[in-house]
Amino acid sequence: MENKQKILLSGIQPSGKPHIGNYFGMMKPAVLLQDEYKSYLFVANYHALTTLQNKDEMMQNSIDVVIDYLAVGVDPQKTTLFLQSDVPEVTELAWVLNCITTVPYLERAHAFKDAQTKRKEVNIGTFDYPILQAADILSQDTDVVPVGQDQKQHIEMARDIAEKFNRVFGETFKLPEPMISEDVAVVPGTDGQKMSKSYGNTIPLFASDKEIKDIVAKIPMDSKEIDDKKNPDDYTLYNIYKLFASDVEDKEMCAMFKNGGVGYGDIKKVVTEKITKFITPLRERREEIAKDKEMILKMLKNNGEIARSNAREKIMEVRDKVGFNI
Ligand code: TRP
Repeated sequence: MENKQKILLSGIQPSGKPHIGNYFGMMKPAVLLQDEYKSYLFVANYHALTTLQNKDEMMQNSIDVVIDYLAVGVDPQKTTLFLQSDVPEVTELAWVLNCITTVPYLERAHAFKDAQTKRKEVNIGTFDYPILQAADILSQDTDVVPVGQDQKQHIEMARDIAEKFNRVFGETFKLPEPMISEDVAVVPGTDGQKMSKSYGNTIPLFASDKEIKDIVAKIPMDSKEIDDKKNPDDYTLYNIYKLFASDVEDKEMCAMFKNGGVGYGDIKKVVTEKITKFITPLRERREEIAKDKEMILKMLKNNGEIARSNAREKIMEVRDKVGFNI
């Protein structure tokens, strides 16, 4: 039964504090899917090195993101949670894949093109980023890769590269499928645009009570009168509330907008309370977990070994296929 389970894998950039967009888009699905799939989640520190070049920050962000995932319910007994750099075999596989991929093909990657327009000189790691990502995916015999819409092209590239290798050297790799969460696009930031750190419109997932209160207070409303009837869908405040609300709570909130008679201050109070009630236990859990660094490091080491032994097996097959085993 166990080996019939499909394999799910995803990499997480260690990029500082997660927000509720990350939670609903990536973290919550990872938790929900860990019973159905044989799951692998890793901190993509080799990838991060393309932009994050500071030892202390790299170390802190890496451990933080592990604690974040544990706090929201990723269970290391069910999910192999590890550091990418504990599986150096992926870099060997990346080299092999480099050799069957052309420059014009990689030049088509959106992320590379973006980097080129933003920075004068793009490092080789940034250019090669999709190949390393393909190596992550293919080294674990992955079936599905849950990612945001922005990563779709990278998964398609991993698929193309796997196909190419299979064509040149014989059937070796499974062809992975992207699993795009529809929710990612609909988590609005406090200004109504997609929630994103770069827009400065986030609600941090582990925000303090005061932070939550201040953030909700600043969500823009309009100048309609209290008694005016309003369409809840027009309001960012409602669209954010909806993510947290039960069906009954959702209906009650809609009624406040539609019937009129309740001021924005009072509506915001309800929203603040709801978000606080959701975040508080997560934040407390995170604080608890963060105290036991030894446990975290031990877990990472064990899980890293599991991931590494899978990758080693795969790379052995690759070494054989390309003719290194003389
Ligand atoms: N590129 C991904 C991101 O920016 C992170 C990542 C690295 C990844 N390797 C991966 C995601 C493999 C899925 C599968 O979020």
